[in-house]
Amino acid sequence: MLAIVSAMPPELAALKALMPTDQITTVAGRRFHQGQLAGQDVVLALTGIGKVAAAATAAVLCQHFQASALLFTGVAGGLGAGVKVGDVVVADALLQHDLDVSPLFPRWVVPGAGKDRFAPDPHWSERLRQAAAAVLAQPEPELAQGLAAFGLHAPQCHQGLIISGDRFVSTTAESQALRAVLPDALAVEMEGAAVAQVCADFDRPFAVLRTVSDRADDHAHVDFERFLADVAAEMARDIVLKALRT
Ligand code: ADE
Repeated sequence: MLAIVSAMPPELAALKALMPTDQITTVAGRRFHQGQLAGQDVVLALTGIGKVAAAATAAVLCQHFQASALLFTGVAGGLGAGVKVGDVVVADALLQHDLDVSPLFPRWVVPGAGKDRFAPDPHWSERLRQAAAAVLAQPEPELAQGLAAFGLHAPQCHQGLIISGDRFVSTTAESQALRAVLPDALAVEMEGAAVAQVCADFDRPFAVLRTVSDRADDHAHVDFERFLADVAAEMARDIVLKALRT
């Protein structure tokens, strides 16, 4: 069974609406919706915000639901120079930017894992990337309307490093500081690298796809709220459905 996971309700709402007669199980205070999407057995879940909430949910999905793979979809702040609001970023590596056990270990290294970057499953990442590129090239009417309402034109799909930490990055100073130490980071969010670490522990494939809701700058909180309301749900639905069908 494939797990499809987001942090917040608007990110998963449109996918969940496609599974009206699903079976709901509550574990650790979280509701897990089992059903079928595009002919595949899936379990949908909201992790809640932040690395701990995401890690707990990922562990339940791996252990209790025996998820065969985890796909994380949601929004992120854009960090890379060409990464604009409305663009999609598919992770090819994930790192916890707020993890620092130095000088005992090099900065960002997860003690025990012996590395700072976790690689997602190349197969699922490529399926998501191709689906995202197709959806962005020719958005369905509902998504096109949302993008237009936000004044977004011709969004692009990128692949690269996504960094996670327990902070909503909402000042230009902080995003500049992150860019200075991690110049190849394309986007920042609060869950992906935690899911990556748990999936590595359970030896389960995972992939992370994020739509850029804001530029992690002084306007981030305003852009983030609007983007969640206008675009996030339809973007996740259309890309995940296309990826499942390929
Ligand atoms: N998710 C979406 N935007 C974000 C930001 N600016 N910082 C952290 N997580 C985010």
